Amino acid sequence: MHEDIAQVLFTEDEIAKRVDEIGAAITGDYAEVAGNRGLVMISVLRGAAIFMADLARAVRLPVEMDYMAISSYGDGSKSSGVVRVLKDISTDIAGRHVIIAEDILDTGLTLKYLLRYLASRNPASLEVATFLRKRTSDQAEIACKYIGFECPDEFIVGYGLDYAERYRNLPYVGVLKADVYR
Ligand code: IMP
Ligand code: MG
Repeated sequence: MHEDIAQVLFTEDEIAKRVDEIGAAITGDYAEVAGNRGLVMISVLRGAAIFMADLARAVRLPVEMDYMAISSYGDGSKSSGVVRVLKDISTDIAGRHVIIAEDILDTGLTLKYLLRYLASRNPASLEVATFLRKRTSDQAEIACKYIGFECPDEFIVGYGLDYAERYRNLPYVGVLKADVYR
């Protein structure tokens, strides 16, 4: 897999350090309100599962984890804009403090849809933690409380991010060589 990477953006160590920082920030921000029930973290399969697994362990409060599957991307490298729920959460989030863990914010269409979808179930609070945020000119306005790193507008893989289901298990994040997907 390594030979398909044009450039490493964030190393395994840098990622671990940043995830710990975000976990500490969440711990501080929710310590007062979390109570016995703690937080509900929701990740969007499949990419964000790796980020959420690490992030949840960096939070020093009770964290429930649930998963959604939606389709907005095919095997290609461009967002289709079509969002469909393939698997819903089974947690009742009414009155709960919810954090959506996302792998990457690109067009923002996925998160825009998800925020509306989950807000309609009346959580006590709803925030977004995104591992990466792409620097693009046409991104939907999404309020992300927690952002791991800003990244260039390239096709990124690793640490959960895939191209055609490959590279998710790369421990670092890198830019995929263009000739791999062209
Ligand atoms: P958005 O709806 O355009 O913000 O896209 C969000 C989803 O598209 C992410 O959860 C990823 O699954 C996928 N995605 C966007 N950009 C990339 C990328 O550079 N590499 C891999 N997946 C990406
Ligand atoms: Mg995804």
